[in-house]
Order: sequence, then structure tokens, then C-alpha cells
Amino acid sequence: MSIVVGTQNEVFLLSTENTSYAFGIDDQGLVRHLYWGKKILSAEELEMPVLTEVSTNDPVYEITPEEFPVHGGLRYKEHCLKATFADGTRELVYRYCGYDVEEGEDWEELVLHLKDDHYDFYMDLHYRLYPRYDLMERNVVLKNQMEEPLQIEQLHSAQFHIPYENLNFSNVHGHWGAEEQRFTQRVSYGKILIENRRGTSSHNHNPYFILDRDATETTGEVFFGALRMTGNFSGVVEQTPYGETLVQMGINPHDCLLQLDPGQTLSAPAILCGYSATGFETMSHNLHRFALDQVMSKGLRPVLYNSWEATEFHVNCQDQIKLANKAKELGAELFVLDDGWFGERHSIQNGLGDWYVNEGKFPNGLEELIDAVKGLDMKFGLWVEPEMVNPKAQLYQDHPDWIYHYDTRVSDTSRVQYVLNVTKPEVQEFIYNMLDNLLTRYDIDYIKWDANRPISQTGPQRDIWYKHIQVIYGIVTALKKKHPHVLFEACASGGGRIDYGILGIFDDFWTSDNTDAYDRLYIQDAYSRIYPIKAMRAWVTDCPNFLSGRMIPLTFRFHSAMMGSLGIGCNILKFTPEEVELSQKMIRQYKEIRPVIQEGTFYRLDNPSADQYFLYEYLKGDKGVLFAFLPQSKVGHRGTTVRLRGLEEEARYILHTSQGDITKTGSYLMGHGLPLRLSGDYASALVQFEKIP
Ligand code: DGJ
Repeated sequence: MSIVVGTQNEVFLLSTENTSYAFGIDDQGLVRHLYWGKKILSAEELEMPVLTEVSTNDPVYEITPEEFPVHGGLRYKEHCLKATFADGTRELVYRYCGYDVEEGEDWEELVLHLKDDHYDFYMDLHYRLYPRYDLMERNVVLKNQMEEPLQIEQLHSAQFHIPYENLNFSNVHGHWGAEEQRFTQRVSYGKILIENRRGTSSHNHNPYFILDRDATETTGEVFFGALRMTGNFSGVVEQTPYGETLVQMGINPHDCLLQLDPGQTLSAPAILCGYSATGFETMSHNLHRFALDQVMSKGLRPVLYNSWEATEFHVNCQDQIKLANKAKELGAELFVLDDGWFGERHSIQNGLGDWYVNEGKFPNGLEELIDAVKGLDMKFGLWVEPEMVNPKAQLYQDHPDWIYHYDTRVSDTSRVQYVLNVTKPEVQEFIYNMLDNLLTRYDIDYIKWDANRPISQTGPQRDIWYKHIQVIYGIVTALKKKHPHVLFEACASGGGRIDYGILGIFDDFWTSDNTDAYDRLYIQDAYSRIYPIKAMRAWVTDCPNFLSGRMIPLTFRFHSAMMGSLGIGCNILKFTPEEVELSQKMIRQYKEIRPVIQEGTFYRLDNPSADQYFLYEYLKGDKGVLFAFLPQSKVGHRGTTVRLRGLEEEARYILHTSQGDITKTGSYLMGHGLPLRLSGDYASALVQFEKIP
């Protein structure tokens, strides 16, 4: 049993294999947090401390660690829920009315029923436990059983309490071309706010929190949570004056108002959360395993070739066929035709919204290219940006009222495009039909769904910030139901849409338009803390890199991209015979190690050297892969020691290095480690290894 209720029915102990979470109902009827950490065995030992106010200025409401603080009364701390009733009352008062326990194949769930003291308004707190992943999901479901609507001004899905001060908070910052820049800051008095206000989730911050007590990869306490929602989120971390740190996350209240009509239910996005007593590695492993088993679609991701960087908008059928032939020669399995195939799309100026095949570029229709690609025994993928329209496009001429706008204002364009108001049923129908027609008419295996600008001038509706992405989820889900073999890639100007919401809706995820192999090491390292490797699309592209101007050897570029789901984005028609041969070798090797990379357990290894080695290991069953990168040899051309992880102590392993095979025991490789020295700039190595039976 993962859920244990105390004999007085007022204390709840929720346990996974290694962790416990506890809360209870106190003498004032407040749902009060009691514990989050290492597993504890008995609910009976949990005590509900009697709280008295510190002073008249520090009321009990303020110092009680509540599971779901609402706005109202003597509460001045962050609240999860603020609502306005039809009569203007802006305060909530909840009453505990019992609980239910539900069970599924891999989970057990406790639902705590709360009701407003006066109004027929219900708040169900859900705690779903996934014991073998050491994870829990929390959210709240709101129900309006009144005759009048209710306005929701703030909805954060849950609040967590960590009984420490001076924690480290980590997330990522960034912008287009520089997503996933990891930062860590000490939490002190005051609040930390991370959020997105643009309608996508992740160029700037990412909807998750990591709070640790000076943890390392393998030691120390870590508390973490990831929001299962794309779009405008907010997360607040607050170190209170009462010796604890609280954190909450959910829908961003910025410019957002959600109306709950009579009889309506609203389920807030869940927060997937956990505790690790053994550092960041355990956190990542639990999240990755859960994502692979329970969230993402099954199957290995193909090696793709995408022609965007090779041709940009200068698309024509014959050149694309030439690229497809070359991609096949290299070993790619999927050919993706990116932007520029439709309407009058010759630049960013026009075409978006006019989703017919451009006849000048494809005089014999798209079939000519698709037949050629299929004739090569490759899969075919197509780029679309369905939420957008260019002002010059016919779609906009026909439906100027389909974009987000105010009647008395001029909507801003960005990348010369507007955002369609996808909450209108006619727009939803247009997008669904457009894609359904494409997928029905053409033999398409893969859709790259792009979204290249933030939302603005949303019009009078203040709920679109939440509803927009719900509509997109719905359209993609419906399309996948009708066309189950098609993989959908989520892209938003690079890595603008990666989060635990979209992870279960799309299949593939574009990490960043920054394809510089060195920059990518940082991006990928940060990404891997929360997201599984299979969700990390990584391309090899040309040098000098279009963003950084860097020249990096092809081997390093391949190794860096082979750390995720491999893609090629070079102008391969310009490849020398040596580059063709090297690419063929690398792609062959990638296919061999792909199950280990995409489905294995991933380790960010320690680098004891003064030189900046990046060391990563992947393990699946008896097979393993080690990547080592040395971008620049600086300090006396030092070597490093690679201490592998996750091996069986007594088993013997054979490592296939470029200097020959090495055979050692797991205990040696994990304890003593393997000396490794790379030299020169942008040096890298990939070592495959396996357990000797
Ligand atoms: C932004 C994407 O991130 C790129 O990969 C490419 O698809 C362009 N959009 C096309 O406009």
C-alpha cells in the first residue's frame, strides 16, 4: 500500500519505493503539510503540531504550511487559488469533506475533497503516486456546482514545502538560439519568479523547479517538480520568515482570467514531482524512466535529414530529390522538407496560411518528391506552421478576423506573421482539415509543427493564454488518432516548446536552432537534467556554424549530435568524399548504439581534470556507450579519469577504444576509472562497451 491513512483519519502518508510525503487535517480544518523526504514507515508516528500565532502580525494562516493555500483571510503568502464569485466575494474558505483512493496499473491516487464553506464550489486535491519511479503527480480539479459562473484569477496546481532555508534553486534561462542555459542561485529572503508570458513555454525559462542542499550528481538532497503544461506558466519560490521554503507552479496569472461556468470542471495541469537523497542523477533517472515508459510515444526515433539549413526558402523539387538521394547514401531514414514548399513562400514575407503546394517549385506536385523519397526506402516528413498567417497570405485576406486582435488596435507582426485565434471553432476546423487533407492525400510519415512567434494582442478573451495550447493539444491528438503512424515534431523557433505537457502529445522535439556542436554540449547537458534523451533532437550542421561562426571538426559535430536523436542538417551536396565516408560511418555506428542512446540510462559523469572534459555515459542492459569531449586543451594538456557508473561490480566489461580493447571489472571502472587523454581543440571520442557474458 502506497497510501496509508492514520487511524484518526486525519493524517495521510504517501510513499513510493524510496520516498514519503505526508500531510494532514489540523484542528482548524487546514490541510497542512507534514513531511517530504526519505521513506518513513509508519503514519502513526506523524504528529500534527498545534500551531499558535507568533504574534498578531504572524497569524496561524501565515505560518501553517498549507498544501493548497487559497486567497482569503489572514493569508499574505503566495496562494495557489484566487477566485471571484458572482456576488463579488473574492475570498475562499475551504472545508475538508473526506477522501477517496483510486488505483491504476502503475499508480495509486488519493483525492482529498475540499468544499467552499458557503458556495457550491469544490476543490479536489489529487495526489497520484508512481511508486516504482519514486514520483508523484499533484494537481487540483475545480468544480463549479453553482448557478452562476466563477472567475479564476490565479491557479497554481500545488504548493510544496521544504523545511530548509538557503537552498539552491536551478532552472534555465535563455532566448532564441540560446535555450537551456542552466543557472543556479541561492534562495534567500524574498521570492524567485520564473515564468513565460509569450504563449510558448521554454525559450526563456522552463516549467520546472529543482531545489537542492548543495547536492552533486550523486550526493545530497534534491526536491524537484515539472509542470505538465505548455504555454504561460509561472513558478514561485519563496523563503519565508518562518524557516522554510515554499514553491508552487501552474498557469501564469499574468493577463489571464479563466471563467468556470455552472456545472463546469477545470483540471489544473499536474506537477510531476519527486525527492532524491542521492543527488541530481537519481532525479534525472526517475524522470527519464517515467517519461519513456508513461509519457512519450513508444519506438526509436529515425535518423533524419532536414533540408532547411541547406536550402532555406529556395526549395525546388529537383534539388530536394538530389538531397534525398545523398541523405540516403549517408544512411538517413527520414527526409524532412522544411519551410518554403507551399503558397507564395519565398521568404518570411508570405505564404503562411496558404497550405497548397507551390507549383513553380513542385510542377508535378509534391508526389514527385515523395515518390522519389519512398523509392529510396526513406520516410517522408513535411514542415508546417499551422497557428500562423502572413498578412499577405490569401488566408488573411479572406479572414482578417481570424487573428488575435483588438478591434481598435493594430496587431503587431513578428517574423512578418500574425497568430491565428485557434480558440475560434472555424479556425480549429481549418487547421485540422488542412493537416488531415495533407496526411490523407500524401504519403507523409512525419510532421514538423513550428511556431515562430509569441502571442500578442489576444483580444478581449483573457483565457486564451491557457486555451490556445489546449486546442493545439486537441488537434494533434485527433490527427494522431486518425493517422497513427505519423510522428509529430514540436518546434517553436527552436526549443520554444519543450515541457512535460507537450512530451505526451508530440513525439519528437527540436531542442534549439543553435546547432553549434560546442554550444550544444551545454544545452544538452541542461536539457538532460529533466528531459529524456529520446526527446532531444540534435543535428549535425555545416561549418562555419551560422550562429557562432565556429569551425568544428565533423567528428566532434557528429559525436555531439549522436548524444540525442540524430539528425543531419548540412548541405550534404557539398560534402567531400571524405565527409561522405565519415558520415556514413558515424550514422552506421549511431544506428548500432541507438537503443542504448534513446532508451538507456544516462549519466553525466564527473570530470576530475583541470581541463574541461565533458563526459557522458549511456547504459542499456549489457551495452554501454561513453562520450568524451574536450573543446579546448588548456591546462598543460591534461588527461582525465573517467569513472563509469551503473555497472555490475563483479562483471567484466570490454571497452572498444581507438587504441584497442580494454577489459576490466565494473568495480575497477567505477572506482579506479579509466585514464583518458584527448588532445587538440574540439577533440572527442566515442567508446562502445559491453558486459562479457
Ligand atoms: C524555425 C525552426 O526552428 C527551424 O528549424 C526552421 O524550421 C525554421 N523555423 C523555418 O522557418
